[in-house]
Amino acid sequence: MTVTINTLFDEDAIAARVDALAREIADARPERLLVVAVLKGSFIFAADLVRAMHRAGLTPEMEFMHLSSYGAGTQGADEVRILRDVESDVNGRDIILVDDILESGRTLSFAKERLAKRGARSVRIAALLDKPEHRKAAISADYVGFICPDKFVVGYGMDMGHAWRQLPFIGYVVPDEETSSGETRGE
Ligand code: IMP
Ligand code: MG
Repeated sequence: MTVTINTLFDEDAIAARVDALAREIADARPERLLVVAVLKGSFIFAADLVRAMHRAGLTPEMEFMHLSSYGAGTQGADEVRILRDVESDVNGRDIILVDDILESGRTLSFAKERLAKRGARSVRIAALLDKPEHRKAAISADYVGFICPDKFVVGYGMDMGHAWRQLPFIGYVVPDEETSSGETRGE
């Protein structure tokens, strides 16, 4: 089968936004900064963001939380399960919770509440993409890369059925019959 992926945000646009987000985060002068990346989708964004933080003069430590959402497929989470939790002590620390997409908000509100309960001084959210149209939880991101149209996106860490995380840009899959231009790959 042939799959076409149209570019939504290219590498240069992503790099510029990531640098700008790191500078915004640095402007808030976080203390004992801990970056918590929500796996798996945020791994590339988080890797670029901590290096941009370094360039912005910050010295973050890094942690990972692997969460799994069970629900109606691409419709997002009905229930959030912890596959791996943060090991470091979060007490009194400023935390930046990093994720690929804020959609229903259930995943990030679950993670935020958990870190706050464990005594974090602050928990701020950095979301690469904000998809505001399907929000269910009362939550917003403090730092947003891009507002995302209501499309299923892939690349730069994000997947569709485990595929396409490796793409260096963010794109969306075009169904075969709509195919005109874009990146075409055989699968
Ligand atoms: P929610 O905010 O709890 O609905 O969860 C958002 C999560 O759903 C994201 O972190 C992604 O893992 C996944 N997700 C939502 N929309 C997309 C998409 O367009 N492409 C890939 N993953 C998505
Ligand atoms: Mg995710």
